[in-house]
Amino acid sequence: MRIGIFGGSYDPVHLGHIWTARSVCRELGLDKLLMVVASDPPHKPNNDRLPGSVRYRMLDSALQNEERIFASDIELKRSGKSYTVDTVELLRNSCRGAELFLIVGGDMLENFPHWREPERILSMCTLVAVTRPDEARDMRAIADRIESDLHGRVLLSSFTGPQISSTEVRRRMSEALPVDTMVALPTELYMYENALYMPRELRAVRLKLSERIKRKRLDHTMLTACEAVKLAFRYGADTKKARLAAMLHDCVKLPNKDLIAFCDENHYDISDFERKNPYLIHARLGAVIAGEDYGVTDPEVLEAIRNHTLGKVGMSLLDKVIYVADKIEPSRDYEGLNEIRRTAYEDIDRAMLLVMEHSADYTRRSGREINPSTKAVMDFLRSEMEKNS
Ligand SMILES: [Fe+2]
Ligand SMILES: [Fe+2]
Repeated sequence: MRIGIFGGSYDPVHLGHIWTARSVCRELGLDKLLMVVASDPPHKPNNDRLPGSVRYRMLDSALQNEERIFASDIELKRSGKSYTVDTVELLRNSCRGAELFLIVGGDMLENFPHWREPERILSMCTLVAVTRPDEARDMRAIADRIESDLHGRVLLSSFTGPQISSTEVRRRMSEALPVDTMVALPTELYMYENALYMPRELRAVRLKLSERIKRKRLDHTMLTACEAVKLAFRYGADTKKARLAAMLHDCVKLPNKDLIAFCDENHYDISDFERKNPYLIHARLGAVIAGEDYGVTDPEVLEAIRNHTLGKVGMSLLDKVIYVADKIEPSRDYEGLNEIRRTAYEDIDRAMLLVMEHSADYTRRSGREINPSTKAVMDFLRSEMEKNS
């Protein structure tokens, strides 16, 4: 058995990590590679780090389809500071007879002699430093020095994958910028579902939502935010407004009878059509509650929430982004969805039209009346398409 140990804080794990793991596995012919989540690595003090259990869950979900690469929580289970020498020793004792390889980033190599008991680490495993091809010569010199001073074996593994950093992923999450080219899909979804790396006020919004709507609705809401950020970015709309509007678009999703009761109790006017189709109320009411209970004052955000079920003639780009994101977010599943998803990133007006046709069809088939404004909104979208063609 050839086993690799690849430790990191994975806060969060990104595609650069996964790429490295795969290439090292191939290059060294490893049977198994353990990506060990660090609880408190002595070389990288960082007090803002997410709890190890959360980082482990993100890593584990990102590796679901890997055959030889696994997430390991071995360091999280130990109390106190974690030293690599202890991890290597634990693995050596639990995998007797296996040949161990400790994989580290090239930037760690120079400092390796200052780690705790480096000589003992090298007596138990081969050190593998992952370097960029242009750094290989300098690294070899450092590796040679370590080999002779500490009496071990140091290999270099060339890294040609994407240059991504967890710091950059966190910054982009905080700034409402897309991260889909930097992390695996399960990581992206997990970060959004749990509002990870988002500003404090948005984490508070999610917390409040979690007390008021069901978990499934909450996940839908957060995944709509994930989609809305990407769509807004694609079309040049404000991604932060899109994220907030998406998070709150269903903030008063209640059973139909409760929606009517809520409106009657609070003296909100409802039209006859809304009384017959109460689910429509949640959009208009959502805008009211987003303002009253969640402190949203931005009229564009409130308007996008208000328009997310029926749209309107003259709707803004942000309105369209929220409308479409709601219908194509990653947990959605219905016939015709793939075409709508593809279209959403090519032509947002056409994507909206497809959604409206789809739901008008559904309304007709279920014997309900189509909203009087639907035709006018569809004509508006067609004219927008013409304008942009
Ligand atoms: Fe909704
Ligand atoms: Fe929704």
